[in-house]
This record gives sequence, C-alpha cells and structure tokens, in this order.
Amino acid sequence: MVKEKVLVIGASGQIGVELTLALRKIYGNNNVVASDLREENELLKGSGPYVSLDVMNKEMLHVQVIRQNITQIYLLAAILSATGEKNPNLAWHLNMQGLLNVLDIAREEKLHKVYWPSSIAVFGPTSPKQDCPQRTVIEPSTVYGISKYAGEFWCNYFFERYGVDVRSIRYPGLISYKSAPGGGTTDYAIEIFHEALEDRRYKCFLKEDTYLPMMYMPDAIRATIELMEAPAAKLTVRTAYNVAALSFSPKEISGEIQKHMPDFAISYEPDYRQNIANSWPASIDDSVARADWGWKPEYDLSRMTADMLENLKG
Ligand code: NAD
Ligand code: SER
Repeated sequence: MVKEKVLVIGASGQIGVELTLALRKIYGNNNVVASDLREENELLKGSGPYVSLDVMNKEMLHVQVIRQNITQIYLLAAILSATGEKNPNLAWHLNMQGLLNVLDIAREEKLHKVYWPSSIAVFGPTSPKQDCPQRTVIEPSTVYGISKYAGEFWCNYFFERYGVDVRSIRYPGLISYKSAPGGGTTDYAIEIFHEALEDRRYKCFLKEDTYLPMMYMPDAIRATIELMEAPAAKLTVRTAYNVAALSFSPKEISGEIQKHMPDFAISYEPDYRQNIANSWPASIDDSVARADWGWKPEYDLSRMTADMLENLKG
C-alpha cells in the first residue's frame, strides 16, 4: 500500500476539526498534518502534528508540502456566504487564490489526491428550487457562490489538463456541535441549539418558512471520506458532486427541538442573510453521487436533533 501523508488546510474550522480527527483514524495521527491561519483548535491538541500556515503564501505552502512529504491536501480554508457578502474582495481573493495555489503545487509535486469543497451556494435564483439536479442552470448571486462555481471549473480543468486527481462535494449547510461555524447563512441551524439550551429562546435571522438543504456533520465527514476513497474510474463528475440529506425550515427545526424542550420559543427577525437563503434551492437531487460512489445519508431531522441536544448538554 502507498504511504499517504495528508495536509489539512483550515483544520481549526467547523469541518476541519472533525475531518482531521477522522483522517487521523484512517492514516495514523502522525500522517495527518493539521494547519490553519489561526491557533490550533483545542480538540486537535495532542492528537497529531500542527503547523501554522497561510494558504495565500504559496512559497511557504510549497515548502511545507515538500518538507513534510505531503501526498494529499484537503483545502478547507475559505470565506463563507454571509461573511463573503460583507467583504466580497477578500472572499474572492482567498477562495480563488487559495485553491489555485493548492492546485498548482499538486500538479508540480504530483500529489496523489486533492479535496476541495464546493457548496449548494453555486446555485442561484434561476436554479430549480426543489430537488435541484447535478447539472442545471447555475447562476449564483453571492460572491461566495461565484467563487465556488469558478473553483469547480478550475478543479475540472486541472483534472482534464494535468491529471490532478481533485475531488469535490457541494456541501449543504452543515450542522455540528464540536467546533463553531464560520459565517454562513445556514449557521442559524447551529445557533438555535446553543440558544435553546442557554435561554430557551432563539431569534432567527431567516423567515420561518425558509427551507434549505442541510446535513449533519457525521454524514458530511463520511461523504468526504467515501468520495476520496472511491475508485477514480467510478467518478463521472470532476466539478463537484451534489449530496443531500435533509431539507427543513426554521419553523420545522424549532418544532423538533420543542419535542425535547416544550418551553422553547422561536421568533423571527430576517436580515441580509434572507436574500442569500432565498437564492438557494430548498432541496437537492444527489442521484449522481448515489450512482457513482454509493452515497447515502444516515441522519434525519429527528435523529440529528436528539444527537445535537444530547451532545451539547454535555
Ligand atoms: P470555517 O470558516 O469554519 O473554517 C475555515 C478555516 O480556514 C478557519 O479555521 C480559518 O482560520 C482558516 N483559514 C482562513 N483563511 C486561511 C488562510 N489564508 N490560510 C489558512 N487557513 C485559513 O469553514 P468551514 O465551515 O469549516 O468550511 C470549510 C470548507 O467547506 C469551505 O470551503 C466552505 O466553503 C465549505 N463549505 C462549508 C459548509 C458549512 O456549512 N460549514 C457548507 C458548504 C461548503
Ligand atoms: N453553510 C454554507 C453557508 O451558509 C453553505 O455553503 O455559507
């Protein structure tokens, strides 16, 4: 078996912490190097190597890849939808140049594989609202969505032109309890659990009937690993795969929380994030991922809610 050495960039973020820990179980603690611009997340401390790294500094990134004998990169550093609308230039710059730096180094160093996540934010107001298909009208209206869509085509380009084995998933909104979310429109579905347990009430920044595609983190981590382990010959999509698990509204998730906490109350005060949410589909068709590499979610809304509450209660 080929010995793999993995570099996770953005390892202290919402996905990075859990993905790094999962990869360390597969490849061994010392074979997964966590890296981030910010300090090492508490949950990672003592579980394996950590380096401070800015993905925008291509030279330093290249040095680390060579010095550490890296064979795979998982690039998670990005600015998400809500923060991106506040600083479009920064979002475009980081989301694009960070990816290009990694793809260039992957080509030069002949890395075995690269993982880079896309998002349901590639879809825009003209995409189908229900069961949005893999291939459809894609006209994103946020800078985040534009950067993800352009990124998908850079991945496809590096695969077709240089043979870089880069793989990608269009994650829906991800819900987790281990590390905090990083400035997305779907973050309400995490905040609601924290506020429910602290205050028994939550003021939601989206309207009660805003349906969005969502997924519980254990499913997202499993999807990522299953895609990365799938035989290359099975993959028919080299932009990014649609994956689906849940679709719910703020009203529905609050109803689910009320089954555990009958005195929980939700109110609504939509802000600028409502426009972002309105531009995205309510649900996703993931039949291509299911056919190509056997994707299937495990968590429904009720199982996820029970698990979130149990873990956050501590
Ligand atoms: P996050 O904001 O929680 O984590 C990103 C991490 O990248 C942070 O720890 C940050 O410090 C780090 N970072 C930022 N700039 C950096 C730089 N220049 N160099 C090195 N590290 C830097 O984000 P996340 O939710 O973990 O998302 C990870 C990826 O998944 C992103 O590409 C995001 O677009 C994508 N995604 C996330 C979701 C979601 O719901 N969380 C949904 C769809 C797609
Ligand atoms: N959860 C992400 C966001 O809201 C979707 O990519 O930005």
